[in-house]
Amino acid sequence: MLSWDEFDQPEETPARAQAAKPVVQEPDLDSLEKLDNAGDAAAHNARVVNAGDSEALARAKAALDALDVEEGLEELEGAAVRVRVDEKRMINCRADLNQLVPFKYDWAWQKYLDGCANHWMPQEVNMTADIALWKSPDGLTEDERRIVKRNLGFFSTADSLVANNLVLAVYRLITNPECRQYILRQAFEEAIHTHAYQYCIESLGMDEGEIFNMYHEVPSVAKKASWGLKYTRSISDPTFTTGTPEADRQFLKNLIAYYCVLEGIFFYCGFTQILSMGRRNKMSGTAEQFQYILRDESMHLNFGIDMINQIKIENPHLWDAEMKDEVTQMLLQGTQLEIEYARDTMPRGVLGMNAAVMEEYLKFIANRRLNQIGLKEEFPGATNPFPWMSEMLDLKKEKNFFETRVTEYQTGGALSWD
Ligand SMILES: [Fe+2]
Ligand SMILES: [Fe+2]
Repeated sequence: MLSWDEFDQPEETPARAQAAKPVVQEPDLDSLEKLDNAGDAAAHNARVVNAGDSEALARAKAALDALDVEEGLEELEGAAVRVRVDEKRMINCRADLNQLVPFKYDWAWQKYLDGCANHWMPQEVNMTADIALWKSPDGLTEDERRIVKRNLGFFSTADSLVANNLVLAVYRLITNPECRQYILRQAFEEAIHTHAYQYCIESLGMDEGEIFNMYHEVPSVAKKASWGLKYTRSISDPTFTTGTPEADRQFLKNLIAYYCVLEGIFFYCGFTQILSMGRRNKMSGTAEQFQYILRDESMHLNFGIDMINQIKIENPHLWDAEMKDEVTQMLLQGTQLEIEYARDTMPRGVLGMNAAVMEEYLKFIANRRLNQIGLKEEFPGATNPFPWMSEMLDLKKEKNFFETRVTEYQTGGALSWD
């Protein structure tokens, strides 16, 4: 949190110390009104067509004479009056959406601030060791190479799916400005993630066509992508609106599909595999990129869960037995697809893990997701075989992680690793 207090306190010099204390003056209302009138008159004079004005400028000024300010306001979303906190709603809100404050959902604004505080760019990560290892014929085993390629293949398009869903569907339907502020931040972070994967693919000299087309061509990747896309299709039609219980449930299912399943389950096998490589000093640049991404993703997930639960609180009629059963099914389907992805990416044991251990982890994760949105755990007794993954998400650790960031190369520019 920045403080500007020091700028408000004049430096204590002997001359200043002797100076008289400033007198607090009440504003002169009469002169404020004069100031307003003078401002209006000056603005009006600027509109007068002068002899030297071109014909185009004269037309522009005349067109502004006909501008109806009220007409523009009527087209803004919501009523154009001062907003009260108790009018704010996550969905189907009728208050003006262009007024950020007063805040109702402080958690959304706080996450926006936290997201900005964690800003990073892919070019800040040194990829030299990864390039040498990837190009060395016996640097990695075939199983390890498969993991790197499959994950870059899945993630390079998955983050675009998430970003498109946010911008083309979710943003419009969430009717709250502080949540929209975070969604804008999240959308930019998704762009940074896609950039990071592209940066890894390019640095390692991979076949870009092969990697970016895995979501069409490799079944375990394609199934996850098409599972998510189904939920975007249902609400991205520009004529889709919320406001009926069926439409509101459809939107809520989209949020659960993306935040709880895509970002909350589909990312976890891949993150664990790549971070496990990094822990073994292999592909450490790629692993560092994934670690930054995981931090962002855990915040996206938490934001999504807060939104979902808030919508449930404000619209309890949506969360009936049928909806709970349907949502449980969605999370179980997602878990199953991720288990299949774990099998496909790890046909044999690799990096001290195997598909069976990953399955246990994914069941543990699924229990957490079910719990977080108020549903019953489906895998009783599932344990976490990778406790180090939670350390990666620990906020205190995260701070240290950023303090240890390598700084001896430029940030923000394009780098050459030759
Ligand atoms: Fe992402
Ligand atoms: Fe995300």
